[in-house]
Amino acid sequence: MTERKRVGVLISGRGSNMSALIEACKKPSYPAEIILVISNRSEAAGLDIAAVAGIATRVIDHRKYPSREAFEADLDAALRAAKVDIICMAGFMRLLTKGFVEAWRDRQLNIHPSLLPAFKGLDTHERVIAAGMKISGCTVHFVRTEMDAGPIIAQAKIPVLPEDSPGDLAARVLEAEHKLYPQALKLVASGSARVEGERVIHDRSPD
Ligand code: GAR
Repeated sequence: MTERKRVGVLISGRGSNMSALIEACKKPSYPAEIILVISNRSEAAGLDIAAVAGIATRVIDHRKYPSREAFEADLDAALRAAKVDIICMAGFMRLLTKGFVEAWRDRQLNIHPSLLPAFKGLDTHERVIAAGMKISGCTVHFVRTEMDAGPIIAQAKIPVLPEDSPGDLAARVLEAEHKLYPQALKLVASGSARVEGERVIHDRSPD
């Protein structure tokens, strides 16, 4: 097998998508390995999960920096020091500036719990239900400067049931996220997904 891509995961909280990526990386044939987990919040539960899995963790608290650029300079330095090839944002709740996003262009992934470009931002499931949507889902995409936007790598759809509360829908979508993110990272890390004209072209479909 060619060398596994080195992944840095950015989290802000629970880290269940990070856990799904950690699980996927345990398979020797998986084309990526998680080298570092960085949280902008010291209380993020995902930090303990990563540490128990034997992965290096860092807290880079955005509140301790005078500007977004100063915060991102340290974030960038930590990722580069760890020789990270690909960044996976997994519930990382900070907007990143153009400078950072461009520096990691087509090497930075994000997951969002809707079928983008619909329902960007927070309170996704509440808004999906209020809009009377019959289908929702999740998206993994390459990161661009605009929030929850960028070339779509993979999506999964989930039916919205008439009796769904936002929590019910969130739980079913989250289950789909945990399958989708490892598939999407596999596509990118193996080199079988590439960006052409802001669309992602796949050499082969996800497993
Ligand atoms: C996930 O549902 C993820 O899609 C969402 O935050 C949650 C993080 O959960 N991300 C966004 O809304 C990004 N705009 P996790 O910490 O358990 O992975």
